[in-house]
Amino acid sequence: MNFNLSEEHLLIRDTARSFAQKELMPGVIERDNNQQFPSDGVKKMAELGFLGMMTSPNYKGGGMDTISYVLAIEEISKCDASAAVIMSVNNSLVCWGLEEYGTDKQKTKYLTKLASGELLGAFCLSEPEAGSDATSQKTTAIDMGDHYLLNGTKNWITNGSSASIYLVMAQTDVSKGHKGINCFIVEKEMMGFQVGKKEDKLGIRGSDTHSIMLTDVKVPKENRIGEDGFGFKFAMKTLSGGRIGIAAQALGIASGAFELSAKYATERRSFNKKIGEHQAIAFKLADMATKIEAARHLVLKAAWLKDNNQPYSKESAMAKLYASEVAMDVTIEAVQIHGGYGFVKEYHVERFMRDAKITQIYEGTSEIQRIVISRDILSQAEIY
Ligand code: CAA
Repeated sequence: MNFNLSEEHLLIRDTARSFAQKELMPGVIERDNNQQFPSDGVKKMAELGFLGMMTSPNYKGGGMDTISYVLAIEEISKCDASAAVIMSVNNSLVCWGLEEYGTDKQKTKYLTKLASGELLGAFCLSEPEAGSDATSQKTTAIDMGDHYLLNGTKNWITNGSSASIYLVMAQTDVSKGHKGINCFIVEKEMMGFQVGKKEDKLGIRGSDTHSIMLTDVKVPKENRIGEDGFGFKFAMKTLSGGRIGIAAQALGIASGAFELSAKYATERRSFNKKIGEHQAIAFKLADMATKIEAARHLVLKAAWLKDNNQPYSKESAMAKLYASEVAMDVTIEAVQIHGGYGFVKEYHVERFMRDAKITQIYEGTSEIQRIVISRDILSQAEIY
C-alpha cells in the first residue's frame, strides 16, 4: 500500500490550489452576495482543462484519472464551492456519462465541446415530485418515429442557465416503470426548451440553479443515450461517479474552513494567550483534522476503485455520506472558533457553513446514500 501521491498528482493539486487562490478567491464574497456566476473563473478552468479532466484527449479532454479530479475539486472548493459544483457536474455527470455510454456521433458532436469547456452541460433528473424517488419521472418522451416529443419540468438544475447541453431523463413507457425511462441530449436552442426561475439559495450561491421547462421539445432519436429504457441505469451509474466529485467538494469545504480556523487560533488572543493554547479550541482543531483526514481517505479510495475498474457505488456513497457530514460538523465548529467574527461574511467561514449543507442533499441525500450502502451490504451479507 502506498499513501504517497505521484509527482503528476502533486502537480495537478498545486496547479488547482494556486489557480483557486489567485482566480477564485478574489470576489468570492461578492459573488456569493449577488448570486453571481463565476464566468471568468469558469473560462480559466476550461483553459486549464478542468472541465473535462477525465475525458479522453480524443474528445478534447485531459485524459486524467479520478484521483487527479478529486484533488483539483478539493482545492477549488477550499476557495469557491460554487465553482467546484459547476466543474463537478460538467465532468462527472455530463462528460463521463457521454463518453461511457454515448455513440461516436454524440461524442464528436457534443462531448468535444463539453470537455474543452467551450460549452457547459447540465444533468436533469430531479423534478418537482421526483427528488430522492428518482424513478417517479413525470417528464414524458413520446416516441414519434424519428424523434421523441419531450414534455415536463425539471427542478434544481445546476448550470441551469449557463449550460447549453442538457442530459434529460424522461419516461417513455410508464408501464415499464424505471425500465421505461430514457436519457436524451437536449440542446438549449431546441424549440420548446425554456430555462425557468433561478433559485435563491442558502449556499453555493455563485452557481446557477434553475428549473427547466420542456414543451413539445422535438429531440432526434439519435440523441437518446443507450438502448431504449437505459435512462434510469444511466442516471444511477453516472451519479455513482458524480458522488465522488461531491464528496471531494465537501472535503474541500471542510478543509478550507479548517485551515482558516487553525490560522485564526494562532493569531487571536483571549485571556492572555492565543486561543489555540486553550484546550477547548485545540481539541476542536484535533477533532476537525481527524475527521477531514478520514473523509479524505474515503474520497481517495472511491476514486482509486473507479480508476482501477473495481465496483465503487457503495464506496462513492460512503465517501459522500461521510465527507458531507464532516463538512457540516467542521464548518459549524469553524464558525464557533471564530466567535463573533465567524458570524460575519468577511471571515469566509459562515459561507463555508452555508455551502456545506447542500453536499448532504444533492446527488442523493445522506438518507439515499445510506440506502445505497445498506443495500450493498445486505446483498453481500453471506460473505461476512
Ligand atoms: N448502477 C447501476 N444500476 C443501478 C444502480 C447503480 N448504481 N443503482 C440502482 N440501479 C438499478 C437497479 O439494479 C435496478 O435495476 P433492475 O430493476 O434491472 O435490477 C434499477 O436501477 C432500479 O433500482 P432500485 O430498484 O434500487 O430503485 P429505487 O426506486 O429503489 O431507487 C435509489 C434507488 C438508489 C433510491 C435511487 O432512486 C436514487 O439514487 N435516488 C436519488 C436520486 C439522486 O441522487 N438525485 C440527485 C439528482 S442529480 C443532482 O443533484 C445533480 C445536480 O445538479 C448537482
